[in-house]
Amino acid sequence: MTRKPFYYIMLGGVLLFLFLVLFVYLPNKGKAPADDTTATNFDAAAAYEASCSSCHGQDLAGTAAAPSLIALNLTVDEVVDIITNGKTGSIGKMPAGMFSGSTAEKKQLAEWVLSHK
Ligand code: HEC
Repeated sequence: MTRKPFYYIMLGGVLLFLFLVLFVYLPNKGKAPADDTTATNFDAAAAYEASCSSCHGQDLAGTAAAPSLIALNLTVDEVVDIITNGKTGSIGKMPAGMFSGSTAEKKQLAEWVLSHK
């Protein structure tokens, strides 16, 4: 009879262990970390402000140095290409590498620019 409290403590421990394995460990097994690929903290507006606004203007409307970026008739890939390689045309010369982020960030920046209709 004196062993009974010990027995219940052991039983509780085993049940707790099973509970943790079944409801905490197994459901999370193999799951990718939350911010693996999709969620980035990239702020396209801030990147534009830092890398592009000096020539294209705070409001994307253009300056004497560079054309407006509002209602562009370009694809995301074309804008990514311009961001990467620059552009030389009749208006002037946009140097390559004005924004040094990843390809994914360049795409987000391009989408943000193209969202201005
Ligand atoms: C040093 C000044 C400068 C900076 C900084 C700059 N650009 Fe440009 N950009 C230009 C010039 C000049 C042109 C026009 C080239 C031409 O004559 O076609 C241009 C053209 C473009 C075009 C093509 C517009 C069209 O109508 O074909 C896009 C898109 C563009 N820039 C996006 C960006 C983005 C996004 C950034 C920031 C990462 C940026 N630019 C930073 C100077 C700049």
